Order: sequence, then C-alpha cells, then structure tokens
Amino acid sequence: MATSGALPPSPEVDAWSEKDFAPITAFLRTQIGISLEPHRMGLLQARLRSRVQVRGFSSFAQFHDQVLRSDPSGWGTQLLIDLSTVNHTSFFREPAHFAFMAEKVVGWLKESPSSTVRLWSAGCSSGQEPYSMAMVLAETLPPQQLPKVEIWASDLSLEMLKVAATAIYTARDVQGISPARLRRFFMLGKGPREGSFRMVPEVRDLVKFRHIDLRTPNWSVPSDLPMIFCRNVSIYFAEDERIALIERLAHHLRPGGWLVMGNGEILPGSAPSLRKHSPSLFQKEG
Ligand SMILES: C[S@@+](CC[C@H](N)C(=O)[O-])C[C@H]1O[C@@H](n2cnc3c(N)ncnc32)[C@H](O)[C@@H]1O
Repeated sequence: MATSGALPPSPEVDAWSEKDFAPITAFLRTQIGISLEPHRMGLLQARLRSRVQVRGFSSFAQFHDQVLRSDPSGWGTQLLIDLSTVNHTSFFREPAHFAFMAEKVVGWLKESPSSTVRLWSAGCSSGQEPYSMAMVLAETLPPQQLPKVEIWASDLSLEMLKVAATAIYTARDVQGISPARLRRFFMLGKGPREGSFRMVPEVRDLVKFRHIDLRTPNWSVPSDLPMIFCRNVSIYFAEDERIALIERLAHHLRPGGWLVMGNGEILPGSAPSLRKHSPSLFQKEG
C-alpha cells in the first residue's frame, strides 16, 4: 500500500469547464435574477469565455473572484447581463399592435388636443420597437400633433441601449421594411458607414431612452401612462417576478390604460386591475 504523506496530484481542472462556470451561474441567479435554460447557458459560457479571455483572464474562476465577487455592481455584472439577455427584436414585430396603438393615440389627441401622450416601450432591446411606434405615429398624425407624443424606451442591457440610441441599423435589420418607409425614415450611410441605415431625426427625437431593470421597484419613467408595450420580456422572469412585474406595470398605467404584451406571453392570473381583451392586450379597469 502506498503511504506517501504528499497529497495525490489534483486532477487537472479545466479552467473553462462547466464546473468552473458554476459560481457564475449562481451569481447570475442570486445577484442578477436570471435563470437560463441549459442550452442558453452553454451559449453564455462560450460568449463569456471569448469576452474575458481577450481581457487577459485565464479561467471563469478568476473572472468570478476578481471581478464579480470584488465588485458585484461593476463591469463584469453588466457584461453578464448583456450576454445573457436575449435581445431578438425587429421593426414592426407583431404589426397589429402598432396599428392599435396609433388608432388609440389619434383618439386621445382628439379628446384632449393640448395634452401630451406618453407611451413606454419597456424592454426595447436595440430600439426597433419604439422606433416602429414613432414611424407609425409620424405616418398617422398631422405634423403639428407629432410633438404631442413622447415615447419612453428602456432596457436592462446598456449595450442594447447604446445601439438603440445610435439608431444605426444593418441592411438585414431593415429587410422587410417597405421602400416607402425606408425612403422616408432612414438615411443611407456614406463612406465607412456605407450599407447602413440611420433613423431620421424626426423619428429619433420622439424617443427617450432610459436604463431600467424591470425587476427593481423604482422606474424613472412617468406614471399614469395610457399605454405600455412590454413585449417578449417577461419570458425571462420567474413566475413570482412576472406577477410583480405585471402589477407594477399596471400601477404605471392610468385607469383605462393599455398593456401590450408579446403574442406568446402568458399573463399570470393575479393582476387584479387588468382585464384581458385578446391574448396580448390588457386594459386597466377604471
Ligand atoms: C426579446 S427582447 C424584446 C424586445 C422587444 N420588446 C420586442 O418584443 O421585439 C427582450 C428584452 O428584454 C430585456 N430585458 C430582459 N430582462 C430585463 C429586465 N429585468 N429589465 C429590463 N429589460 C430586460 C432584454 O435586455 C431584451 O432587450
């Protein structure tokens, strides 16, 4: 029997393995509130590895200990948020919602021509949703009424908000937009920007961007809103968080105001003040 006092050599730990990643999974769940499905976790692992390797880190553990643990609200956390939220969006996604919104805005401005109509795109990703709202309103309202509309737009991901505020899109992003809309609402990039499309100031100026985590209670957007779009966001929330989110969104609506969700989203049963009109449209009572 071998009786050496020395410890056996520890098995080689793969610095980028699933095991090494476990503390980051726990940090994501407990500190940020995101629980990813296994296939998304694999993608996050690959993306995080390439991003931290170029910064000189040689293992997930090193990134966790030196960055996440030492500064839980610093750049590492923001990077994790940016990499783990799924930002898929497109212009005029679920087009009926925009027609519905424009019809309501026309009615509100008719009823009360001197007041400002404030709308909110909560979880706006790279901006296609609020800019689609703005384009439809620019097409629908007489030019003198357009300044009576404010579109607030927010997201958790700073990276997405940067793209949104810059308002520069690729040819792929704008495919499917009619030639008439492209001509009216986009400027063609020149020189190094050739091939890109930038929203015109008429549309950009209608949208105000904010960095808001919908899981936290304090939201720096106006309350008493007549309509909130919060589409394809709650799918990242656990059931109890989804209930809290819907209640807070309802709280931000004025009586009779509308909450527009994604077509596939299931609203938890316990949002007492909201009445369901269709699978994705809910109205606050009152
Ligand atoms: C799939 S995109 C939806 C974009 C757009 N609303 C649409 O339907 O096309 C989901 C967005 O929700 C954002 N998000 C996820 N969790 C969030 C949170 N806790 N607070 C705010 N935004 C969040 C993500 O960053 C992402 O941009």
